[in-house]
Amino acid sequence: MTTVLAIDQGTSGTKAVVVSPEGPLLGLAEVPVRPRYLSGGGVEQDPSELLDSVLAAGREAVRQAGVAVDIVTLANQGETVLAWEPTTGKPLSPMVVWQDRRAEEICEELRPHAERIAAATGLVLDPYFSAPKQAWLRRHVTAEGVVTTSDSWLLHQLTGEFVTDATTASRSLVTDLESGQWDAGLLDLFGLGQERLPRILASDAVAGSTTAFGKEALVGGLIVDQQAALVAQNCLAPGQAKCTFGTGAFLLANVGSSPTRSSAGLATSVAYRLGEQLTYCLDGQVYTAASAVRWLQDVGHIDSAPDLDRVSAEDDDGVIAVPAFAGLAAPWWRPDARATFTGLTLSTSRGHLVLAVLEGIAAQVAELASLVEHDLDGPLQRLRVDGGLTQSRVLMQAVANLMQVEIDVYPSQHATPLGAAALARVAADPTRSLADAVVPWAPSWTYEPQWSADRAQDFRARWSAVATANC
Ligand code: G3P
Repeated sequence: MTTVLAIDQGTSGTKAVVVSPEGPLLGLAEVPVRPRYLSGGGVEQDPSELLDSVLAAGREAVRQAGVAVDIVTLANQGETVLAWEPTTGKPLSPMVVWQDRRAEEICEELRPHAERIAAATGLVLDPYFSAPKQAWLRRHVTAEGVVTTSDSWLLHQLTGEFVTDATTASRSLVTDLESGQWDAGLLDLFGLGQERLPRILASDAVAGSTTAFGKEALVGGLIVDQQAALVAQNCLAPGQAKCTFGTGAFLLANVGSSPTRSSAGLATSVAYRLGEQLTYCLDGQVYTAASAVRWLQDVGHIDSAPDLDRVSAEDDDGVIAVPAFAGLAAPWWRPDARATFTGLTLSTSRGHLVLAVLEGIAAQVAELASLVEHDLDGPLQRLRVDGGLTQSRVLMQAVANLMQVEIDVYPSQHATPLGAAALARVAADPTRSLADAVVPWAPSWTYEPQWSADRAQDFRARWSAVATANC
């Protein structure tokens, strides 16, 4: 009987939930964090703000719950990095966020080794992943301390340990996909061969303990946020797929225990590691989903995200948007791509622009789904979705229309912390299986395609031509 404090430390905020042994939430708190967008593709966060948000959200959720928690788990952003002093824990750099494109120079220099890197890691050489950003920090910011992903620093603050987990390590470009361990040759390639590296833990391991949220509690069940949502949505069997619509949109498909390399340009990483047993996922990214909506808000087209469906026009009037505000990932892998609108006329309204952005996000998700289908050699039967933007019926309908499959909406806005909570239950009680620890769910809504297959194909061909011309 385990009560869990699950903390989802994301790009736009930190969410903490206390989950009772039976499943219902006892406490919920959210603290927003706002990244700084710099010219030249920089995206940074203040480490102290992130830590404060973790402590504040966690303590408020525990206060609401009014019970002591047995275990604390942390879902993390995956590829966000910083430099810090390992004895004091003092940050030596800002957080360099996964959306940051400045490490493109490192990737360009290593381009001749791209195939070797992809073969070893299952990932594409791109500044999105953590090692190029760590190398960039070493070159431009500091030679002092350690450079790690954000989870290692936060976990050090909570427990004093120096650890990461197998899913986060697998997003680095310096771990071997088969073994899930650091690869000395790749570390040398990135100039990180002399770095002190955190211990890689299984997703169901206990990392240590903390008193940061009241009575001493274990800390364990650590995982990347996207993989956590995959677990919450019960995508535990090969071929099951989910897409989380957060700051970005991330489509992950479980591929089981075989580290299937994508031949379509997707990444393969660790979905979760239970003991020594690795389960893998194919993984595609839309770098700006809620970020693109926030841009619509910043330039005044909408007042807030809930406004999207009210402002959106009924049809796009031929306007096509490729909302590549932070570059394009699979299958283009163009960190330098920029957002584009085409087909504008004097009658184009803000409603057309809003719909075009939503259709542009949906088109990227449909593209990723096609790549997954190519790699799995069969169609996805349906897609499970979660995240704040699933509240936009226009966006979800566009995804169903363009993918031509049914879209099942996860019934809670908290898939990521709930997935981490499932792993924490297994960490606290190793006799439990992951399937048993995941709370069963039924979709709150299912979207069915309303477009014909021909119409979807026509739109996708037009959209894809614009995206490709933009690269
Ligand atoms: O890869 C980055 C991603 O995991 C961040 O997720 O929820 O902060 O947009 P989120």
